[in-house]
Amino acid sequence: MNNKIAPVLFTVLVITCLFSIYQIFQLKSELREIKKGKTEIPKDTTKVEAVEEEFELAPIMGRMQVYANKLWFAGDAENWELSAFYIEEIEEAMEEIEESNAEENGVNLSQAVKEWGLTPIKNLEKTVESKDKKQFILEYDNLTINCSGCHTTTKHSYIRIIRPTSPIFTNQKYSIQ
Ligand code: HEC
Repeated sequence: MNNKIAPVLFTVLVITCLFSIYQIFQLKSELREIKKGKTEIPKDTTKVEAVEEEFELAPIMGRMQVYANKLWFAGDAENWELSAFYIEEIEEAMEEIEESNAEENGVNLSQAVKEWGLTPIKNLEKTVESKDKKQFILEYDNLTINCSGCHTTTKHSYIRIIRPTSPIFTNQKYSIQ
């Protein structure tokens, strides 16, 4: 190696090392401040807003309404395999709400969906596993009461869910035969 370049390279290396050590010390002292609670962790508010805006509740509700309609006719026909399929779809929609951590009129939806959504849907799941139609009807009505219950707690009491009288779609067969 050229003897003239070597000392220059060495100096650059030493300066870089010293600068890195300085940065580490600075970060450590910032961390100490944060731990003491003196400095607040800066929040990237733009990101938080973006996440909240992305979460759209109405399309999920629309999906649940369709599946709740189909579920009634599948259960009424004692088609338990198809009923289980729709229950799974409703449960997935509810889990999306649970993961959102979104709020509606001051109500945390992740908490609300556990009480008004996941509990009744899990009870309904059990009736399908036991193939008990009487119990299915009871738990189905209980689900619709809970759907409406959550609407009331979130100040949407005018959205009332009931047992359907006819299938939304006429191009699907619900009976097994
Ligand atoms: C965690 C609370 C919660 C639960 C549980 C819940 N909903 Fe909703 N639902 C809401 C809220 C909040 C809105 C209003 C959404 C908005 O403002 O866009 C809504 C709106 C709706 C709407 C109106 C939108 C539309 O497409 O007409 C329907 C229908 C609906 N829900 C169906 C259901 C059904 C069916 C169930 C049960 C299987 C259910 N919801 C369970 C909170 C809930």
